[in-house]
Amino acid sequence: MKLSNFGDVINFAIKREEEAIQVYGNLIDLAKNPGVKKLLQELQEEEKNHKKLLQNITKEKIESLAITDVIDLKISDYLVEEPPSEDMNFQDLLILAAKKEQQAVELYSNLANKSKEGDLKKLFEFLIEQEKSHKLKLETEYDSHILEWN
Ligand SMILES: [Fe+2]
Ligand SMILES: [Fe+2]
Repeated sequence: MKLSNFGDVINFAIKREEEAIQVYGNLIDLAKNPGVKKLLQELQEEEKNHKKLLQNITKEKIESLAITDVIDLKISDYLVEEPPSEDMNFQDLLILAAKKEQQAVELYSNLANKSKEGDLKKLFEFLIEQEKSHKLKLETEYDSHILEWN
């Protein structure tokens, strides 16, 4: 992968967001628990907003982005993901989605590290925290279900 200019990098990121939208679409179809379905729909909506942000990005927009640090519960990091399937339970679904979000965090971290331009770096640092917040929501949901059963 060789990304040479601003436009290439943005287009690459848009493609990744489109993939995320699609992954959430598949997971929404598989989700039977209404609460989990709703959460996945909210997250898909946020990925759509990321795509829109990237499609209409300007220097001014990047300047106006507020970056807030998000904690990482790391709950899913040591859990094994099952491939998506019809009989997937909602814990597996949450783990799978959280793992995808972790991959997004890593991807944007890579892009942020490689960005020499300050604006681009800031844009990716914003997206890192956004994807971290998605992971946090999924892990919090996972955690609350586990606690309910104990
Ligand atoms: Fe995203
Ligand atoms: Fe995300």
